[in-house]
Amino acid sequence: MFTTAIAQREKTQPGELPLDLFTAIESLKKELNAVILAHYYQEPDIQDIADFIGDSLQLAKAAQKTSADAIVFAGVHFMAETAKILNPDKLVLLPDLNAGCSLADSCPPEEFAAFKAAHPDHLVVSYINCSAEIKAMSDIICTSSNAVKIVEQIPKEQPIIFAPDRNLGRYVMEQTGRDLLLWQGSCVVHETFSEKKIVELKIVHPQAEAIAHPECETSVLRHASFIGSTAALLKHCQNSNAKEFIVATEPGIIHQMQKLAPQKRFIPAPPMNNCACNECPFMRLNTLEKLYWAMKNRTPEITMSEDIRLAALRPMQRMLEMSV
Ligand code: 13P
Ligand code: SF4
Repeated sequence: MFTTAIAQREKTQPGELPLDLFTAIESLKKELNAVILAHYYQEPDIQDIADFIGDSLQLAKAAQKTSADAIVFAGVHFMAETAKILNPDKLVLLPDLNAGCSLADSCPPEEFAAFKAAHPDHLVVSYINCSAEIKAMSDIICTSSNAVKIVEQIPKEQPIIFAPDRNLGRYVMEQTGRDLLLWQGSCVVHETFSEKKIVELKIVHPQAEAIAHPECETSVLRHASFIGSTAALLKHCQNSNAKEFIVATEPGIIHQMQKLAPQKRFIPAPPMNNCACNECPFMRLNTLEKLYWAMKNRTPEITMSEDIRLAALRPMQRMLEMSV
């Protein structure tokens, strides 16, 4: 994938950028009959030009419903791949093919196949942050907004493998009282938050409510008064009486929080070191410029074999049916 990505990138940046990228992208959107779907972790300009912004579940649903001919996915590879699984006949573009995900990478297909084969009586529930190959080996997909609900619908006596995120898996275990067999994957961004720094921030801002994404470690989650997917965190900030929030997830979402609750204050949870590593290095590979070139040149395009797509579609459809 890496070599292809470099070749694709060179091919996609051959000329001068238009002065007004926003207008140029709008006109390419009409030309392609395209819809731009963006995740909350994208840079503010991309969020502002998107037709739809959402969490993984909302984006999968939007991809399922769209009547556009092309989907421009401003997110990471597994999200664009999910859109392609649901829309084999549409052109699905990802501005930068290198926009992967550490969590998806922490679950290599051959190793996972062996793990699954060692536990043949287990049902496989996989978090959507995984490759199409892992989805194809799964029984049901879930996202951070429906994982608890999905696991609760599975009969209690049925043993379950939960992959690839051990932190979300542990959170689901706590919420459901179920014993899940966890694949030991994790997200580099959500594991970077420092418990010590969150505690220090809470002392400096005693009125602030700490909120966190379930991909964070237990040591961070225990300081949060609300835990949820990106969409759930956003909704909570609007509904809560609190005026200040310490936000333990990728800070890209603060753009929407600020827009929807301008009178409130959002403090990004600090990483362990004094770096910007609470920003997802994969999500941030997409830029407005790359989005323009992708639309202009209709590449990089997401493709996959029809066998994998059909096998990955089945557990995706089960999730969509179980989360209405
Ligand atoms: P959401 O499903 O909450 O949007 O999370 C996606 C993700 O990648 C979190 O790191
Ligand atoms: Fe993957 Fe983590 Fe980035 Fe989400 S924040 S896309 S889980 S690396």
